Amino acid sequence: MTTSVGIHDLSFATTEFVLPHTELAAHTGVDIGKYHIGIGQRSMSIPALDEDIVTMAATAAAPIVERWGADRIRTVVLATETSIDQSKAAGIYVHSLLNLPPSTRVVELKQACYAGTAGLQFAMGLVHRDPTQQVLVIATDVSRYDLDSAGESTQGAAAVAMLVSADPALIRIEPQSGLHTSDVMDFWRPNYRSTALVAGQESISAYLQALEGVWKDYTEQGGRPLPEFAAFCYHQPFTKMATKAHRHLFNTTGHDLDEDQMTAMLRLTTAYNEVLGNSYTASMYLALASLLDHAGDLTDQPIAFASYGSGCVAEFFGGTVVPGYLEHLRTDGHQAVVERRRSIDHHTYRTLHGRSLPEDGGHHLTPKQTTGPFRFAGLSGHKRLYEHS
Ligand code: HMG
Repeated sequence: MTTSVGIHDLSFATTEFVLPHTELAAHTGVDIGKYHIGIGQRSMSIPALDEDIVTMAATAAAPIVERWGADRIRTVVLATETSIDQSKAAGIYVHSLLNLPPSTRVVELKQACYAGTAGLQFAMGLVHRDPTQQVLVIATDVSRYDLDSAGESTQGAAAVAMLVSADPALIRIEPQSGLHTSDVMDFWRPNYRSTALVAGQESISAYLQALEGVWKDYTEQGGRPLPEFAAFCYHQPFTKMATKAHRHLFNTTGHDLDEDQMTAMLRLTTAYNEVLGNSYTASMYLALASLLDHAGDLTDQPIAFASYGSGCVAEFFGGTVVPGYLEHLRTDGHQAVVERRRSIDHHTYRTLHGRSLPEDGGHHLTPKQTTGPFRFAGLSGHKRLYEHS
């Protein structure tokens, strides 16, 4: 008998602060319609001085460990493109903050926004090999562009933690996957930069081209016909991108598209991303969280996933919603995570954006700002310090 493997639990976290796009527009002079309608964004999460990818990742994963225990978790995969060290995996700090067992392998994965999906697929393989084991996959990122650049309005931050398990409680992931890799320079961040470089319009074209590629391969791998899917979770660097992608996929494959139906279906997947902003690796899984939390009963419905990471690598795959999943959702908790953020003004945002860490190896404590459960306490002798708040 084939074991069914997939997402057993999903939980997300974001930052202490939020910058509304109305506040950004008041200072950039851009018509708010461009942000609210043109790119489909309303606000973006901004990390406090004592928050980073580790504190968000631990905050996202803690409720999962609390609910299911850590006994079966033998692997932690942390996907990020906001890495904090060239050698040590950020997941080791998370492993320590969550007090996970020492008999665990912990690694970090990178391929722009795609790495969360790589983590999920690698986890699937490990659980198929030994269905008694579970894998904690965490996608965590802070999206940063230069101040006053076109990308600035598409920043954001969040972490999604997923427990991958046999007999999953939420989504069974299907075996067929469409893959696509091509060498393009649409978005990248050299090691010496803290903000990404991007060719905005080219990045949109690269995303759409990759979508064509993954769909072609998915079909060749024996995947489902397009109309079978009840909903589509796209990578959402800004939520309007989901509309562009969906229209492109249907038009280029010769399928009719009911615009009203599309808008209603996609809106269910954009509720979190439109207020958190681009969270890179976490973005597509926030689309899934939004869908599960806001749609009616999706039991036994097939869901499509279209993952894209600049550079570029993309993947298309399907999953089926498991009977009983409604009992395991974290809708109230997710809503609270979004609503607890404190609004900041434009000046505070620019000050936080300009933050850089001292490089002298001294003892530097970080001011306490976060009200979350974990904090980045500072640097000492070039070592990062983390603590429970
Ligand atoms: P831009 O060039 O300033 O904006 O930047 P625009 O002129 O293209 O306008 C955007 C939309 O707003 C347009 O709609 C305008 O018509 C509309 P569209 O034609 O696209 O449908 N608009 C208005 N609508 C209503 N009222 C108004 C108004 N004015 C204009 N008054 C861009 C946009 C997304 C390029 C920029 O924000 C950017 O560079 N962002 C970062 C790059 C990005 O997000 N790329 C997405 C694909 S690549 C990707 O997904 C990977 C990524 O996540 C990274 C990774 O993989 O690691 C980024």
